Amino acid sequence: MKVQKAAVIGAGTMGAGIAQVLSAAGIEVILKDVQQDFVDRGLANIKRMYDSRVKKGTLTESEADFLFANVKGATEYKGFDDVDLVIEAALETIEVKRAIFTELDKLCPPHAILASNTSALSISEIAASTKRPDKVLGMHFFNPAQTMKLVEVIPGLKTSAQTTETAMQLCKTLNKVAVKVEECPGFLVNRLLFPYLNEALYLLQEGNVTAQEIDKAAVEFGLPMGPFTLFDMTGIDVCAHVTEFLYKEYGQRFEPAPLLHLMVENKFLGQKSGAGFYSHPAGHIPKKDEPKQINPELENLLAQAQKERPSVSAPGKFDVHRVIMPMFNEALYAIQEKVAAPLDVDVAMQWGCGLNRGLVSLAEEKGFDWCLSELDAQQKIHGERFRPAWILRKLVRGGIHDCKALIQEPVAAR
Ligand SMILES: NC(=O)c1ccc[n+]([C@@H]2O[C@H](COP(=O)([O-])OP(=O)(O)OC[C@H]3O[C@@H](n4cnc5c(N)ncnc54)[C@H](O)[C@@H]3O)[C@@H](O)[C@H]2O)c1
Repeated sequence: MKVQKAAVIGAGTMGAGIAQVLSAAGIEVILKDVQQDFVDRGLANIKRMYDSRVKKGTLTESEADFLFANVKGATEYKGFDDVDLVIEAALETIEVKRAIFTELDKLCPPHAILASNTSALSISEIAASTKRPDKVLGMHFFNPAQTMKLVEVIPGLKTSAQTTETAMQLCKTLNKVAVKVEECPGFLVNRLLFPYLNEALYLLQEGNVTAQEIDKAAVEFGLPMGPFTLFDMTGIDVCAHVTEFLYKEYGQRFEPAPLLHLMVENKFLGQKSGAGFYSHPAGHIPKKDEPKQINPELENLLAQAQKERPSVSAPGKFDVHRVIMPMFNEALYAIQEKVAAPLDVDVAMQWGCGLNRGLVSLAEEKGFDWCLSELDAQQKIHGERFRPAWILRKLVRGGIHDCKALIQEPVAAR
């Protein structure tokens, strides 16, 4: 099916970005929110996105006007009777999403696909609120949706292959990179990213290495920014919420470092609150490469965190693999569960969080036996967070030392 007319529910940060992307591909879009001023704010943001493309010279003014005219604001469900697709980007609560999907199911034509941009909620549970679970799936765009290339396409338990294929093809039309991800908590990118972020906290509270040193090492490894810069940008409260959720779903391996809740309780939430791991004085726009100042209160919190749950430091010099291995190991857990194809893990991490080298291919460079002995050694010191995925032990036992055994045909549409 070719998507010609779509609707986006929620005109906030994500909804506006998604509506812009759809409209830029020549698709007619209804942008719906609950109040006219929210709709107007969303439309104004889309206009700004087009203006910036005109400024950059990638569109002429008349082309931008023509494409922007594809978006129509709404506070009612008028015009939904002939849409081919709806992407919901409203509040992240299951009750709100289920109510929206039940309503959409009644109003949209039978062929319409209903997608949710949820970051974490169960697609199958959302689908169960409709009479067309075969046509419901997750389309997880990354923020900002108008520029980030990755979309995780997440079928639920009853999603048909045809629905998934239509969503994958649509992503291609939208000039996005789509990766098919089986439904699991955190989907793929967040599931892999959070063990790395959490380990950076444990490492920091051991007190032998600074936030700047860890950030610098992560950038040298190939990430666009270090974990503490990312925490401060994203909002430490938001990260704490996701970490708690993943801990509840996966257990021990995701046990949050105590430093995380201490940061939130002390209102060090990152850039938005003026301080997180670094200080962010109001009105100060840091110059590129300007050294960041550590939050002076951090030292006290580190001591408190260490008291609450002592993290044992490993002997020897800090090595960035201490924070990378939990991410690599989680990739293997996802692969053994067939959540994603191995090559797609690398694609997702590249386009979803800017990792400029293959994550799974790390094993190519180091060898599976090195990865396993590193995880075994760290597990002895730090416990369950480093328990190796069994697929790794199987590969090593089988005498397989390179990645080829893992690499199957990718399912990413690119
Ligand atoms: N912000 C991110 O970084 C990000 C990234 C990926 C996915 N998401 C997910 O996308 C969704 C939206 O997030 P956001 O950051 O754009 O939120 P937001 O708060 O910026 O926008 C949500 C909008 O939805 C509207 N809304 C609420 N209930 C509605 C309803 N019943 N009908 C129509 N509109 C309704 C609100 O008025 C608001 O304008 C959430 O599910 C979130 O988890 C967010």
